[in-house]
Amino acid sequence: MLGIESSCDETAAAVVRDGREILSSVISSQIELHRPWGGVVPELASREHLNKIDPIVEEAIVGANVSLDEIDAIAVTQGPGLIGSLHVGVCYAKALAFSLGKPIIGVNHIEGHVYSVVFENPPIRFPALALIVSGGHTNIFHVPEAGRYAVVSRTRDDAAGEAFDKVAKMLGLGYPGGPAIERIARSGDPAAIRFPKAKISDGRPDLSFSGLKTAVSRYVREHGIEPVREGEAPSRAIADLAASFQASVVSALAGTLERLAIDMRPSDLIVAGGVACNVALRDAVRSVSERLGIPAYFPSKHLSTDNAAMIAAAGHARLMRGETSGRDLSADVTMRLQNIADERGEIVPKNVRYRV
Ligand code: KG4
Ligand code: ZN
Repeated sequence: MLGIESSCDETAAAVVRDGREILSSVISSQIELHRPWGGVVPELASREHLNKIDPIVEEAIVGANVSLDEIDAIAVTQGPGLIGSLHVGVCYAKALAFSLGKPIIGVNHIEGHVYSVVFENPPIRFPALALIVSGGHTNIFHVPEAGRYAVVSRTRDDAAGEAFDKVAKMLGLGYPGGPAIERIARSGDPAAIRFPKAKISDGRPDLSFSGLKTAVSRYVREHGIEPVREGEAPSRAIADLAASFQASVVSALAGTLERLAIDMRPSDLIVAGGVACNVALRDAVRSVSERLGIPAYFPSKHLSTDNAAMIAAAGHARLMRGETSGRDLSADVTMRLQNIADERGEIVPKNVRYRV
């Protein structure tokens, strides 16, 4: 399976055998291109995808030591993501699949993140509970069986990764913010500042990060904290702030996952997406896993952030069920994962109180 991913700021291609074995995985990151703007500029992103897609796919094919004829099918990210970026991958994949006479599978990017755990862990056992945390998404999915999803928790505003990025910008820590905050948080005290919980108080297991972001901004103003200047070491106050902010995000994510896992008793816990690189989050989920006796699976760091191997794995699972896309496949900016479940009716166990 050739996987192609171009939903945001990474142009990626990978060749995966039988949905589990990575023969090649090539990622061209645009971080340096967008760094001066402190975030992804959509127009620049699509232009760069256009430049990179052909050489990156070629590199993946050569790296896997296969010929294009040996590829059985092509999986491509259909959505969600940036429209211009998605178009590049989808059009390229369709043209290639058509010219080779091979099937094409449009894959939901979030489902790709779920499948990022299959390469280095035992096969997923269902029902599973999957926390997908990235720069664009923060959701917990109930996965009763392969290919069926129901959202049981979501963020009401910012994604967790977005909160990391915005707080890092406030503190002068650069872009992307998650790794920068995690690094500086190591020398800070996570209990130094009590920030509000990044949770919703109406009883639903939903998350919210905008209040926390505002609280950090207020704290910075009220305590006269200066952003870090280039080449300078961060102050103790910045380290404490980063550690306390990270602790608040981690406790909301792991706490919500635990609460849902107690109610739903899944066979496996899955945590994936860019924020799953965060060691504090991994440690917190490992504690949940030990307390409940439910295994927790993470992808390694290079598979946590956007890549095409995960898209190929998710595409493989769909191909095995005969779910291929037609020639009318087109990018879907707001593609939802729960729609797949909705079409087939109620899938959340009766003992769960939350409306989906
Ligand atoms: O999955 P991903 O590569 O792209 C999206 O689909 O959004 O995730 C990128 C996000 C960014 O917001 C980045 O700051 C965050 O993941 N991230 C982290 C860490 N590494 C990346 N957040 C917290 N801690 C990290 N170590
Ligand atoms: Zn992603």
